[in-house]
Amino acid sequence: MEDKSLTGTRTNPFIWAVGGGKGGVGKSIVCSLLAFWLARLDKRVVLVDLDLGGASLHTLMGIKTPPRTLNDFVTGRCKALKDTCVDLELENLRLICGASENLALANPQFAKKRKIIQNILNLDADYVLMDLGAGTSFNVLDFFLVAHRKIAVLTPDPISIHNAYAFVRNAVYRRLSQISRKTPYVHELVQKAMDPKNDLNIQTVKELLEVIGESGGNGAMETLQREIRRIRPAIVTNMARDPSEKNIGNVIGDVAENYLMLEMTNLGGVAYDERILEMVSGMIPLTRMGLSSEAFVNTYEIVSKLIRLN
Ligand SMILES: Nc1ncnc2c1ncn2[C@@H]1O[C@H](COP(=O)(O)OP(=O)(O)O)[C@@H](O)[C@H]1O
Ligand SMILES: [Mg+2]
Repeated sequence: MEDKSLTGTRTNPFIWAVGGGKGGVGKSIVCSLLAFWLARLDKRVVLVDLDLGGASLHTLMGIKTPPRTLNDFVTGRCKALKDTCVDLELENLRLICGASENLALANPQFAKKRKIIQNILNLDADYVLMDLGAGTSFNVLDFFLVAHRKIAVLTPDPISIHNAYAFVRNAVYRRLSQISRKTPYVHELVQKAMDPKNDLNIQTVKELLEVIGESGGNGAMETLQREIRRIRPAIVTNMARDPSEKNIGNVIGDVAENYLMLEMTNLGGVAYDERILEMVSGMIPLTRMGLSSEAFVNTYEIVSKLIRLN
């Protein structure tokens, strides 16, 4: 690889976001494992804890009290976001810790969110991995949508599958809403269709696009369709207890294609792995775990697939 420090050129990092709606499905674990493997593959990685209400990545990395957090940047104590990075035991891997005690940050205003996003896009790294919080608030969706690679984590549990689908659906509507702002009648239709009980009885994105097309907005319809295709979320099924469960994410792929006109990539699964429980309960830093445990092996395969997609 070209040595960027010698040529003075630097490209912006690839941003991967890990979200998925439901809490406790393993978003933070999967995100940290992906970051771990990228760093092992000699990529310079910054892991960002964007679970603004319940930061936990520092504990997974064995840090009890973060010396600096995202909050130091938001409040201006650290001038640049890069100054909040904490070095971890593994070379190439740095962490921006979240600030769970700070309620103001749990729901940042537009300007703060934009400032965070712009600074993330300019971090000096090959990859930035954003670990998102649960739920489908605009903040979570906006971080998800800004990423080049959007990864939704679910488990084989039906509620988590349902939540992941709702998460992806809301992300699509959020994107449609953002890009239709300058075309008021399209924007209004999008806003209406977001509510499943809308009076136009629009139930799917497909139907929404048809209505927009019929209202004379063929150009608008095509633009929206193109934008939806570009979202291309990827699915990881975590805590699979047997190999057949590792592709449960496909269920969402099929539904999303039919109803949301979305193309999804199934990245396969991560096994339910007792070693992960030992790591969490023993506060053993993830960077010190044995590479041969199943969750590590599975996430290595996922990282390899993701790198090929880049
Ligand atoms: N592959 C796995 N095998 C076993 N336990 C897991 C696995 N992934 C996650 N867990 C357990 O689930 C808990 C929640 O994971 P976490 O990543 O914090 O979820 P989220 O970020 O989605 O809220 C972890 O503390 C761990 O105990
Ligand atoms: Mg988490």
